Amino acid sequence: DGDVFKYYVDGAWTPTTSGKSVGIINPSTLKSLFKISACTQDEVNKCVDSCKAAQKLWAKVPLWKRAEHLHKLAAIMKDQKITIADCLVKEVAKCMKDAMVEVVRSGDLIDYTAEEGIRILSEGKFLTSDPFPGNERNKYCLASKIPLGVVLAIPPFNYPVNLAVSKIGPALIAGNSVLLKPPTQGAVATLHMVHCIHMAGFPNGLVNAITGKGSEIGDYTTTHPGINCISFTGGDTGIAISKKAGMIPLQMELGGKDTCLVLEDADLELAATHIVKGGYSYSGQRCTAVKVVCVMESVADELVKKINEKIKKLTVGMPEKDCDITPVISETSANFIQGLVEDAKEKGAKLHQEWKREGNLIWPVLIDKVLPDMRIAWEEPFGPVLPIIRIKSVEEGIHHCNANNFALQGCVFTKNIDKAIMISDAMESGTIQINAAPARGPDHFPFQGLRDSGIGSQGIINSINMMCKTKSTVINLP
Ligand code: G3H
Repeated sequence: DGDVFKYYVDGAWTPTTSGKSVGIINPSTLKSLFKISACTQDEVNKCVDSCKAAQKLWAKVPLWKRAEHLHKLAAIMKDQKITIADCLVKEVAKCMKDAMVEVVRSGDLIDYTAEEGIRILSEGKFLTSDPFPGNERNKYCLASKIPLGVVLAIPPFNYPVNLAVSKIGPALIAGNSVLLKPPTQGAVATLHMVHCIHMAGFPNGLVNAITGKGSEIGDYTTTHPGINCISFTGGDTGIAISKKAGMIPLQMELGGKDTCLVLEDADLELAATHIVKGGYSYSGQRCTAVKVVCVMESVADELVKKINEKIKKLTVGMPEKDCDITPVISETSANFIQGLVEDAKEKGAKLHQEWKREGNLIWPVLIDKVLPDMRIAWEEPFGPVLPIIRIKSVEEGIHHCNANNFALQGCVFTKNIDKAIMISDAMESGTIQINAAPARGPDHFPFQGLRDSGIGSQGIINSINMMCKTKSTVINLP
């Protein structure tokens, strides 16, 4: 069926035998946009078998050649940036400017992965037996890194391309093969990226891409005995996957409620700039978005005034027009965000802007005087609405940060560096930024969540290391 995007197995775009498809809705127009294949469990088997066979051969391909393939992919992706970005604009309502950044950043990430992989994977260890009590110097251990096998990569809708390649690049350089399951919204952009892989001339079967309904192939794929590692970014589904997964390494990044702590001595202009950028870019649909501001009461009015001035300048509209605030991903998401705002309003919070929504487009709102009994104090809206909690002590802010199940990132604004470091130590989150909004990049930095925000650590270096195992050969001398 020419209208349905095929899935990709063994180097070929293949129609599903199910005869069924899944629809992708344009979040901006709410109209049907694309159809992707609703693959079957048999087709998952086919992909896994193909990945397994290709991996055995790929593991024997010299490292420099693997790197060469990745550099070629990066170049092709950058060449195709307009096509891929255009899909992102239509499928996930990311503004054109940010969509282009996502693709170029992805190309850079792949190049860096190839270079870093050469260094990390060429290093092994040589140990002798005699340091350990009771041993003579008669055993030599040669330890090196070997691939895990088949890596299942599941990226989310908000960075479907970038968070796909941040899993695929490290997996491939380390000698693994990849089964990719794109998110439904963003699938076509991701499939375009897969076509770049196709054009880069990787061996057939090394990367296969399956699409479909979670209810049909979700559990089946994540619990498939042929999968040797899962790298997932997304929401609660990750917790369910982790509970069901077998004895395989997991890399999970499951959202956040990043706390921004503003102290009395903070540069309020700087803080406001970062809060607006961090809280509202891509309409708040980033796991690293600023999701709650805890500000000292004495400077709260001034900070709020500065934030409001900046919110006024945000443009609201369609992604094609490069607006700052664009429609959120789905009606379900928009309804959820609205529910959080209504709950806060009913319980006495102050909205600095009038609530306005058209379809999935939500105008930015700053919700002041939020109290702990309001849902928005704890839940992740994934929308352009930001709660402010006025605090009487820094400890109160630290407590709010640590009491949440999410613990991805956080940030603190103060001119006192000693205090900043002590607060960073006290905030129990994966990363604390001092005097800047949370962010994942630069992409070689470690990136990880504590508690319900994830398992393992990402970033190029950590992902490469996570996607290998140590193998030792011990030479026993007479
Ligand atoms: O949404 C989750 C992403 O990992 C955040 O990445 O900080 O570059 O927006 P970012």
